[in-house]
Amino acid sequence: MKKLTVFALAVIMTLSFASLSFALKKDVEFPAVGDEGKVVFSHENHTEKKGFKCPDCHPGLFKMKKGGDKLTMADMEAGKNCGACHNGEKAFAVKSPDSCPKCHVK
Ligand code: HEC
Ligand code: HEC
Ligand code: HEC
Repeated sequence: MKKLTVFALAVIMTLSFASLSFALKKDVEFPAVGDEGKVVFSHENHTEKKGFKCPDCHPGLFKMKKGGDKLTMADMEAGKNCGACHNGEKAFAVKSPDSCPKCHVK
């Protein structure tokens, strides 16, 4: 009985890790607002290529749920969410006019 429980737990954990890494292959898309195009956030790019770890962003900067955060440029310019890194030091700045199209694509 106990063995069965351990086995069941192992299966559940394996499945949830599998679905997590599957979710991470999918980009997070933020719908277009006004004239600005939609924004595509790539987990793969930020974790595998840039080497960030989950706790660098979750839960401090973003909830682990698509659409879980209300993102505004004003907040980001003040250093929240994407703006914690996209501040012109760690990565291209949210407020510089030539960086808008790096995130907003039409
Ligand atoms: C550079 C920042 C960043 C890093 C690092 C990061 N995430 Fe995310 N994650 C996000 C953002 C942004 C969202 C979307 C939040 C929103 O829509 O409000 C998100 C959403 C998610 C979601 C929800 C996806 C969905 O479709 O609902 C999961 C699951 C998730 N992240 C897991 C992880 C895991 C696991 C790691 C580590 C391997 C990780 N994230 C690393 C920024 C990051
Ligand atoms: C690091 C990526 C990034 C950069 C750079 C960026 N944005 Fe955004 N922007 C976002 C995200 C993410 C959202 C949220 C979209 C949503 O919720 O659907 C957003 C939302 C917006 C919105 C709607 C919300 C609000 O605050 O009014 C406007 C307008 C906007 N951006 C304009 C701009 C302009 C203009 C620039 C260049 C000066 C820019 N953005 C640069 C990521 C970025
Ligand atoms: C933990 C730090 C961090 C956070 C948070 C973060 N980024 Fe980035 N991002 C980076 C770094 C570092 C780069 C690469 C440096 C550069 O290009 O200036 C980058 C690059 C990018 C790129 C360029 C893609 C490429 O191929 O290099 C886009 C687009 C982008 N980020 C969008 C976003 C959006 C949208 C958000 C918020 C939803 C976000 N990032 C949050 C660190 C971060």
